[in-house]
Amino acid sequence: MINQINITDIAAKSFSRLPDARARELVQKLVVALHGYARDVKLTHEEWRGALSFLHECAKISSQSRSEFSLLSDVLGLSSLVDLLASVPGATPGSVLGPFHTVGSPWVDNPANLIGANSGSAVLLQGRVCDRLGKPLPQATIDFWQNAANGLYWQTDPAQPKDNLRCQLKVAEDGSFEIATIQPMPYQIPTDGPVWLDLVEPAGRGSWRAAHFHLIVSAPGHRALVTELFEADDPYLETDAVFGVREALVYRFETVSDAAACARHGLPGEQCRVMKVELRLAPLPAAKKS
Ligand code: BEZ
Ligand code: FE
Repeated sequence: MINQINITDIAAKSFSRLPDARARELVQKLVVALHGYARDVKLTHEEWRGALSFLHECAKISSQSRSEFSLLSDVLGLSSLVDLLASVPGATPGSVLGPFHTVGSPWVDNPANLIGANSGSAVLLQGRVCDRLGKPLPQATIDFWQNAANGLYWQTDPAQPKDNLRCQLKVAEDGSFEIATIQPMPYQIPTDGPVWLDLVEPAGRGSWRAAHFHLIVSAPGHRALVTELFEADDPYLETDAVFGVREALVYRFETVSDAAACARHGLPGEQCRVMKVELRLAPLPAAKKS
């Protein structure tokens, strides 16, 4: 019969016929970890019902375009922990995908210019995609997105045209790419749902994310890199609401004299603010021998 001592083992073993070995490990260890937590904190009925009701509230506010559960994972630091666990020495670290990536952004030529009708401070993001040893990856592609000068992404701002400040491009033969854009702005995680109202705000935490560019960098034979690039003077680097900032992802905008680049992008004068980055991809893990 079930008792307080044997229940964890019996519940975990009840999943032993899950056909996929990895799924089995994930579920069985989750049961053990959850039971361990309940024992550790001596979880009461009231607390357990409170937690379930919080999850119901998360479900209620979630939709196709908004996942309160992703936000929960982000503010608990779980999304970032998964990124950190996947990091490979020598490769650029990953950082949160966030809710504003859309599949199928327009393909544009490299160098690209996304400034269009956007207000804000014009900047150039110049970079190179290479492998862990610094060898350029000429077949790499970049999926890029960011917010506008008012802090909003186009999906939540009817004043912005569709696909504003986002694109996909192919790098050049030497792995290089250049995007003329505007400086991204810090912005707040959603503050109208249970994650903020019942969890993050009562903890006295802030709602701001440090300003960032988002990139997904892909190349054949390499792991896709989902990451963000931050600016060294940003006031929220240390308190980013979703723990997304890594030292290796923080760069400066340097003012450089480059008349050709200014002319290329229709920028006034001969000086521009440039963030120069190197993105190093990890190789795909070797296929397991059967
Ligand atoms: C973002 O980067 O856009 C984001 C990430 C996590 C939560 C909210 C927004
Ligand atoms: Fe973002």
